[in-house]
Amino acid sequence: MSAVNLASGAPSSPLSVAAMVSGQGRGSNLGALIDAYAAATIGACMVLVIATRADAPAAERARNAGVPLSIVSPRRFEQDDEAYGEALLRLMRKSAIDLICLAGYTRMLPPAVVDQYRGRIMNIHPGLLPFFGGKGMYGERVHQAVLESGMKVSGCSVHFVDEEYDTGPIIIQIPVPVLEDDTPSSLGQRVLTQEHAAYVQAVQLFAEGRLRIDGRHVRVLSNRAEGVTE
Ligand code: GRF
Repeated sequence: MSAVNLASGAPSSPLSVAAMVSGQGRGSNLGALIDAYAAATIGACMVLVIATRADAPAAERARNAGVPLSIVSPRRFEQDDEAYGEALLRLMRKSAIDLICLAGYTRMLPPAVVDQYRGRIMNIHPGLLPFFGGKGMYGERVHQAVLESGMKVSGCSVHFVDEEYDTGPIIIQIPVPVLEDDTPSSLGQRVLTQEHAAYVQAVQLFAEGRLRIDGRHVRVLSNRAEGVTE
């Protein structure tokens, strides 16, 4: 597969980011991205949050931060994935979205959305992919599985999204040691702290035009000039 340059050079105006969150989402990764823009750490502004439920804690987080919030319940489209995809794409187009960040969104995105935003959709996973991923592997289930496996290290992964669960090219991983007396909850807490750091870093690299997808690999270019000349 040929190399794809995702964004050439840092834009003068911030990237427009949309986050997608499901009902259970606490919204801590969403909050980390919103806070990073407010602190001028990243050149990517959260301009839209799409939540599956109005009462999701992550939706509350968006309201508190004054980020425009849309509720799109996939249940309304249970029999019609295409219509669900169209509804999402309409919102993305209306807000001229450059990058979609899944932040505790537990469903599969409709293929049309993946297709239209290929290489511009990221997800954060609370484990070291390609292990401990796939359908149904989210939240404490991941940490429980890690503890049962006897692994001495866990961590988090930020990856681009493709048509399967957790299989897209990996952008950044941060390892976290597994401790003797860890519970799913204690391990999850330590991983979560690193998730925030990893997501902010991945979005900033994207905003700087320093990510290049080359087959299964995501090359992190050392600087913008490299991105332009390669
Ligand atoms: C995180 O553990 C993330 O890795 C997974 O969903 C969880 C969302 O947590 N995809 P939060 O809502 O961002 O706190």
